[in-house]
Amino acid sequence: MKSSYINSHVILALCIMYLGVWCFGEPDYNDVAPMEEVEKTALYSAIQGFVGHWWNGSDLYPDPCGWTPIQGVSCDLFDGLWYVTALSIGPIQDNSLDCAPNVEFRPQLFELKHLKSLNFFKCFVSPHKHPVTIPGKNWEKLAGNLETLEFRSNAGLIGKVPTSFGSLIRLQSLVLLENGLVGELPTNVGNLTKLKRLVLAANWFYGRIPDNFGGLNELLILDLSRNLLSGSLPLTFGGLTSLLKLDLSNNQLEGNLPTVMGYLKNLTLLDLRKNRFSGGLTKSLQEMYSLEEMALSDNPIGGDLQGLEWHSLQNLVVLDLSNMGLAGEIPESITELKRLRFLGLSGNKLTGNLSPKLATLPCVSALYLNGNNLTGELKFSEWFYGKMGRRFGAWNNPNLCYPAGLMPTGHAPYGVKPCQQEVTSLEANTNSKLGEGNFDQNSHFMVSSGFSINIIDGFRWVFLVQVFMMIQLFNCFLESNL
Ligand SMILES: *[C@@H]1O[C@H](CO)[C@@H](O)[C@H](O)[C@H]1NC(C)=O
Ligand SMILES: *[C@@H]1O[C@H](CO)[C@@H](O)[C@H](O)[C@H]1NC(C)=O
Ligand SMILES: *[C@@H]1O[C@H](CO)[C@@H](O)[C@H](O)[C@H]1NC(C)=O
Ligand SMILES: *[C@@H]1O[C@H](CO)[C@@H](O)[C@H](O)[C@H]1NC(C)=O
Repeated sequence: MKSSYINSHVILALCIMYLGVWCFGEPDYNDVAPMEEVEKTALYSAIQGFVGHWWNGSDLYPDPCGWTPIQGVSCDLFDGLWYVTALSIGPIQDNSLDCAPNVEFRPQLFELKHLKSLNFFKCFVSPHKHPVTIPGKNWEKLAGNLETLEFRSNAGLIGKVPTSFGSLIRLQSLVLLENGLVGELPTNVGNLTKLKRLVLAANWFYGRIPDNFGGLNELLILDLSRNLLSGSLPLTFGGLTSLLKLDLSNNQLEGNLPTVMGYLKNLTLLDLRKNRFSGGLTKSLQEMYSLEEMALSDNPIGGDLQGLEWHSLQNLVVLDLSNMGLAGEIPESITELKRLRFLGLSGNKLTGNLSPKLATLPCVSALYLNGNNLTGELKFSEWFYGKMGRRFGAWNNPNLCYPAGLMPTGHAPYGVKPCQQEVTSLEANTNSKLGEGNFDQNSHFMVSSGFSINIIDGFRWVFLVQVFMMIQLFNCFLESNL
């Protein structure tokens, strides 16, 4: 009686502990997932190296591929035996394996020959107290199966990328993001022709981009941003024909934008911001038909906007060409980019009048033209200024003005002065009104545009603006889905 009472409690406890296991009775502890002893020991030792000596795998997880699964460890069955196929270390989930302050790579890691995926997240985090380098040797032991290798946000991971990464010929994803890695980009990585994703962003890599990176013709994502890379873009980049996203922003790259860029027909994101590119906007940019985001800002590129046939970039949603030393006028053909939401042209040397058609871009929600030398009268509707607020940037164009007489003062373009002629008439108008009473700017607008001054009208106005904006967004949604 008593023993069965205790027994049922044990079973209940086990059921609660291993909710994943369907509990029809006492589990059979001998029915463990069969594993080679060397595989099991290698797993325990490798993990212990990362999480610390206190962690006793054989005690805590006697059946790591069976009824005592380890968070971050996945297994698969090969010829009747279980092997570890994925290992993730670091605080991804609440009960993940966290790294110890004195974290170390153990050679046993490389005995896990069936590993397909190896991930480290916020594991090596003390660049000063306990810096760690990636082991230089043994990676070839994982070459047979490893498809994914990722080190993310490990500030304490320093030193160079081992050349033996070049042996991981099955690799499809190599992510070395936000670590403390240094040196030139490893040319051997250019040998990994199965790569679909190569992310080496936010480290301290310097020097040129290796020519052989252009041979990675299955690559979908290439992100080398936030490093210290210099030199010009390799002409081999034309070979990256599968590429969807190219981010080289925040480096010190220089030279012309090569015409081979035009070969990247499937590219949706081109981000070259904050580099030292020059030589004008190459005409072949217009051949990147799939582009949705083109961000080239903060480069001394120079030249003008006239050379490109903008209508061929029909998919553009974001076009950021600010701080590029662009001169000349803004071509009206830019208004054919019907999906455009963001247009940044600030901080250039653009001149001439602004086409009122810019306001007809159906999706536009931010339009920055500030810091140029645009001239003449702004001819957008007051509704447009109201809708955009400060996301319509036209300030710092000394020779630009808006026709104040026609304008409700509440919806004037921010930082733009009223045109001279109207200024005098407005002043006259205001002065005469000031004698009659104490109008603030809003009530002045209400009066002069025939509204009665009451709160309800104010609310109704706001409501109308909101309805207009919703209709606008809806139209935009329809158009971009046609
Ligand atoms: C784990 O604990 C067992 C005893 O419970 C001990 O025999 C074994 O040596 C320990 N393993 C490690 C790696 O500390
Ligand atoms: C990578 O390819 C180069 C030739 O492009 C070759 O010399 C080198 O040995 C290769 N490296 C590896 C690790 O296979
Ligand atoms: C580009 O994308 C299209 C459609 O998704 C696809 O059929 C084509 O194979 C891609 N081109 C390359 C070179 O990957
Ligand atoms: C701006 O353009 C005007 C002519 O429209 C010119 O006189 C002036 O020098 C230009 N200013 C700058 C800073 O380029």
